[in-house]
Amino acid sequence: MITIYIDNKPYQVKDGQNLLSACLTLGFDLPYFCWHPAMHSVGACRQCAVKLFKDEKDAKGKIVMSCMTPVAEGQRISIDDLEAKAFRASVIEWLMLNHPHDCPVCDEGGECHLQDMTVMTGHTYRQTRFKKRTHRNQDLGPFINHEMNRCIACYRCVRFYRDYAGGRDLDAFGCHDNVYFGRHEDGVLESEFSGNLVEVCPTGVFTDKTLKRHYTRKWDLQTAPSICVHCGLGCNTIPGERYGSLRRILNRYNHEVNGYFLCDRGRFGYEFVNSGRRIRKSLLKSPSPTPPIKGGATPSPPEGEGWGERAQPVSKETALKHISEILSKSKGVIGIGSPRASLESNFALRSLVGQKNFYSGMSAQEHRLVSLIIEILQKGPARSPALHDMEMADVVLILGEDVTNTAPLLDLALRQAVRNQPKEMTASMRIPEWDDSAVRNVIQDKTGPLYLATFAKTKLDDLATKTYRAAPEDIARFGFAIAHELNPGAPVVPGLSDDVLTLVKEIAHALKNAKKPLIVSGIGCLSEAVIQAAANVAWALCAEGKPAELCYAVHECNNMGVGLMGAKNLEEAFAMVQDNKADTVIILENDLYRRGDKQAIDNLFNQANHVIVIDHLLNPTASKAGLVLPAATFAESDGTLVNNEGRAQRYYQVFTPNLDIQASWKWINDIMKSMESNGSNVSKELEAFTRQTLESLDSIDSAISAALPVFALIKELAPSANFRVQGGKIPRESHRASGRTAMLANISVHEPKPPEDPDTPLSFSMEGYEGRPPASLISRYWSPGWNSVQALNKFQKEVNGPLAGGGPGKRLIEPKQDARLVYFTNIPSSSKIQLRNAPLQGYYIFSSEELSSYSRAVVDAAQLKPHKDASS
Ligand code: SF4
Ligand code: SF4
Ligand code: FES
Repeated sequence: MITIYIDNKPYQVKDGQNLLSACLTLGFDLPYFCWHPAMHSVGACRQCAVKLFKDEKDAKGKIVMSCMTPVAEGQRISIDDLEAKAFRASVIEWLMLNHPHDCPVCDEGGECHLQDMTVMTGHTYRQTRFKKRTHRNQDLGPFINHEMNRCIACYRCVRFYRDYAGGRDLDAFGCHDNVYFGRHEDGVLESEFSGNLVEVCPTGVFTDKTLKRHYTRKWDLQTAPSICVHCGLGCNTIPGERYGSLRRILNRYNHEVNGYFLCDRGRFGYEFVNSGRRIRKSLLKSPSPTPPIKGGATPSPPEGEGWGERAQPVSKETALKHISEILSKSKGVIGIGSPRASLESNFALRSLVGQKNFYSGMSAQEHRLVSLIIEILQKGPARSPALHDMEMADVVLILGEDVTNTAPLLDLALRQAVRNQPKEMTASMRIPEWDDSAVRNVIQDKTGPLYLATFAKTKLDDLATKTYRAAPEDIARFGFAIAHELNPGAPVVPGLSDDVLTLVKEIAHALKNAKKPLIVSGIGCLSEAVIQAAANVAWALCAEGKPAELCYAVHECNNMGVGLMGAKNLEEAFAMVQDNKADTVIILENDLYRRGDKQAIDNLFNQANHVIVIDHLLNPTASKAGLVLPAATFAESDGTLVNNEGRAQRYYQVFTPNLDIQASWKWINDIMKSMESNGSNVSKELEAFTRQTLESLDSIDSAISAALPVFALIKELAPSANFRVQGGKIPRESHRASGRTAMLANISVHEPKPPEDPDTPLSFSMEGYEGRPPASLISRYWSPGWNSVQALNKFQKEVNGPLAGGGPGKRLIEPKQDARLVYFTNIPSSSKIQLRNAPLQGYYIFSSEELSSYSRAVVDAAQLKPHKDASS
C-alpha cells in the first residue's frame, strides 16, 4: 500500500493501479466514460480529469487524466480544484453538442451513465445554437436496438465488441466529429456477447430490444438476485419484472464467476417466463372428451403433441385431493427429478417418494458423464476453476468441447486467457496492465498457446495455436497421449501417426512450461473417454508439480446439483414402470422427450397408471400427463443451483406469480400435507421426516445439509429469512418506484398490502433497508448520484475486485491435493467413423437449450443466425 493525498488528505491505496480506480475504490465521485473496469484505460474521453501537483508547495498543478496516471507514493491530487471541475464540465458540454437531449423518451433514461455524469459535473446549461449532426440507425437483429444520435464517441462499444469479445462485425466508421458506431450494413450482430453493449454503452445508443417490446421505466422494475438457468456456468443475474411479466435480465457482478458480462442466451432467453405456453392452473385430463376450456387459464395445446384428450383447469384443492388419492392407492410411486430444477425441489421430490424411488431425470448417458465428472473433481488433485481463474490461464488445452455454444461465457474467459503470454512482454517494458491501448499496441493480434481438439469447427479456431479435428475416440486417444508425454506413469497410447505424435509433444511441452495450465472438456461430445483423457492430462500435470486446473462444461443449470444427490438415471426409472414395480410417476420440471428415446417415453406413459407433472411450460411431456401442477420458474421461486465448478448459488423470487403457480418444492410440501391429512405417506422415510422440513426455504436447506453432507455449506449461502438490517428487510422495489397505489389504480385506489415473503430476507415492496446489503442479497446497483449499472463500484471492496462482504456462492467440491494418482487406462480404439459422417449433432447456443428455445428473441436469433458446424 502507498499513501496519496487527495485534496490534502492522506489515503492508503494499492500500488500498481491508476488514479481513477484508486479514487473510485476510496468512494470518491469522479466522472468517467471511456474507462471500464474490465477493459481498462485508453484516455479517450478526457472526462476523468483531476489536478496533479508536484509537491506540497506546488499551488498551480496541471490537469491530468486520472485513468491514465499511475498512483505513486506521496502523490498529491485534487478532485475539487476549480480548474479541474471546469475542465470536466466543459468535456461534458463538448460531448453533448450533438446529443439529442431526448432523455424523456430514451430507453436509457433514469439508468443512464451520461445523465449521472452530467449531473455530477454540474453541466446544466446548453449554449450551442447550431443544428445537430444526425445519423441513420441500423437494424441489428432481435437483441439490440440502435439509436446512434445519442452517441458520445467514447469507443467503449467497439473496444468491448472487438477487442474484448473478439467480434468482427461492429466497428467505428468515419472521422473527426462524425464517427459512426455500427455494422457496415444493417444485419444481425454476430457475436454471442452482443447484449453486453446494453450495459457497456454509457448512453442510450445500444439498448435491450426485448425490453423495448414491453418497456417500463427501470426504476419501476421489481428485482432480485438470481442465477442464469440457461447453461451450467451459473452466471449471476438481476431479472426485472413489472405487472407480472419479466421484462429484462441484467448482469449481476460476481467477481469469481461472470464478472461484468453475460452471454446473449443468458440475457435474452428469459421470455419463456412470459410464454403463452405457461401452465398457470392445475390441469386434470379426463379420459373422455370434455367441453372446451374456458377462462383462458390454459395455454393452447402444442401442435401434434398428443392432445387428443383434453385437460381441464381445476382448483389447487381438487388437484391435491386427486394426487393424494392416487398416491395412497398406488402400488409404487417413483419420482423423476431434473437437472434444470433447484436442489430444493429435487430434494423435496426425493423426500416424497423416498431415496430409492428417486431418479435424477438425466438420461443414462448424461447421468454417467456427469457422475464421472463429479467423481474426477472430488477424488482427483486438479481443481475445477471459476471463470475468473480461467481468464488467468496461460496455456489452454480444449478436448472435445465447443464452449462458445455449450458454455458461452467460458469462450469469453478464454479470449482473455490467450492474451496472458503475449502480455508478459508489456511487463518487461513496464507498461501497466490497465494501460489498455499501450498493451494492445505492443501485443497486437498475438495470442498465447490455445490448443483445440474438437470434432467440428468452433468459433475459437481463429484464436487457436493448433487445431486437431477428429472423432471423439481419437480426441480421447490424443488427450491420453498428451498425459503420457507429460508423465510416463500415465498409460501409453499405441498406434498414433507421426503427425499426431508431433502435435502431442508440442502441446505437452507448452503445458509443462505453463505457469497456469488449464484443461477444458465437458459432456459436449458425449464421450466418457474424452472426459477421462482430460482428467489424465490435468493429473499428469499435477504429478509434475504444475497447478493444473480442470474445467468441465455441463449443459444445464443444475446438472451438478442433481448429480451430487447420487440418484439413479432415467432409463432405470423406465425399467421400474416396465417391470410393474411402479405404477405412478411424478415428473419434476423435465421434458423427458428431450432426453430419451421417444418409444421408451411413450411406453412410460402407456404403462404407468398415473403420470403427474410439475412444470412451468406445456412441453410434450406435460401435455401427455394426466395431471399437471403449475410450477414457478426461476423468477417466481427461491432455490439453489450448483454450477459446473461445483459452486452452489442461491436465486431469489423476483415476483409473486398469479393463479396457483408456486415453487415445485412448495407443491410437494402441499402434497405431503394433503396426504398427511388423509393419514397416508408415500415413502417410508417420511415417517422419520417431519413435514415441517419442507415448510420454508431455511428448513428445507437445513434438511438437505443434514441428509446429504456434500451440501453442508448451502445453509451458509445467504442470510436466513430472519435477517434484518436496521430492523428492515431488503426491498425488491427501488425507493424510486412509482407508488403501489398508482400502479393498480385501474383496479382499486386503495393501497394494497404487498405480498409477504416468509422465506427470505427480501420484501416485495419499496420499504426497507436501501443501503448496501450482504452480497448475496443485492437486488440492484444504486447509490446516490449513480443511477446506472456503473453504481456497482460502490458495492465492491475495490474496483474490479470482489463485492464488499465477499462474493455470493460456496464451492462444494475441492480437489484432493494428496490423492494417490490412479490414471484412467481404458484407452479407446481409433474411430472407424469418417468425421464427415459422425453421428454427432452440434450443440447450438440459440436452439439447443430447452428454456431459451421458448423465448421469442432467441428463436428469432436461431432463425437469423443458423448454426454452421464443420460436419456440414
Ligand atoms: S455507441 Fe455508446 S459505447 Fe459506442 S462510442 Fe457511442 S456512446 Fe460510446
Ligand atoms: S454463459 Fe451460461 S450461465 Fe452465463 S449467461 Fe450465458 S447461458 Fe447463462
Ligand atoms: S475515463 Fe479517463 S479519459 Fe475517459
